[in-house]
Amino acid sequence: NTLIPVIAIDGPTASGKGTVAQLVAERLGYHYLDSGALYRLVGLASSKVGVSTASEPDLIPIAENLNVNFQGDRVFLAGEDVTDQIRQEEMGKRASEVAVHTGVRNALVSRQRAFRQKPGLVADGRDMASVIFTDAATKVFLTASAEARADRRYKQLIAKGFSANIQVLLQDLRERDARDANRSNSPLKAVEGAHHLDTTSMTIEEAVNQVLKWHQAS
Ligand code: CDP
Ligand code: CDP
Repeated sequence: NTLIPVIAIDGPTASGKGTVAQLVAERLGYHYLDSGALYRLVGLASSKVGVSTASEPDLIPIAENLNVNFQGDRVFLAGEDVTDQIRQEEMGKRASEVAVHTGVRNALVSRQRAFRQKPGLVADGRDMASVIFTDAATKVFLTASAEARADRRYKQLIAKGFSANIQVLLQDLRERDARDANRSNSPLKAVEGAHHLDTTSMTIEEAVNQVLKWHQAS
């Protein structure tokens, strides 16, 4: 299993991780893991049963027993298509609140590692290189300025027909960055040996090609 190559892509919200990771996976014919979706699902599943994001003992069994199915770009929770629900900004916030708990993180480890299958895996999140796939062949730390990221989120939400306010998005994004970077367990940070990629003024295609280049050289 450890012989199967992994490309780990970590970074803050709206840095382009998901978009870049999926395209790299497509080009290489690799599997894809959206680890953030798992935290978002714990956020959603707990809110459905009225469990607070502060209540670690109640969140752990929810994380352990998540009945999740990934089908193409759709995500199902207990058979229900929850793709749009988990993408809401509110669920990103809930995800980052449940993600501070060690018990919740531990409950999701083996589920994430199970995605490592032939011929390879591209995984995106916050701790792909630092915790889940420490032996990843290629480690990328993807960033972009907060303004560029808020602008991307804004355009993404408007394109999907949601309303959005760029100032509110910028404030929410800074709050989530701070929570993710300052938590004691698996904080968002670049590991030694990670390739840094600032995509502020890069196209998606350029970012994808850079990651592929690094992986070919690994
Ligand atoms: O997964 P993450 O939250 O890091 O970001 P994403 O959902 O992949 O990307 C957020 C938005 O930024 C998407 O609409 C991308 O198309 C866009 N994007 C971009 O405009 N330029 C880039 N270099 C990367 C992403
Ligand atoms: O797409 P975006 O970057 O906004 O969020 P995401 O990747 O779906 O992750 C949502 C939240 O889950 C993050 O803000 C983190 O708090 C948490 N998360 C984590 O702690 N570890 C991961 N490997 C992935 C996500």
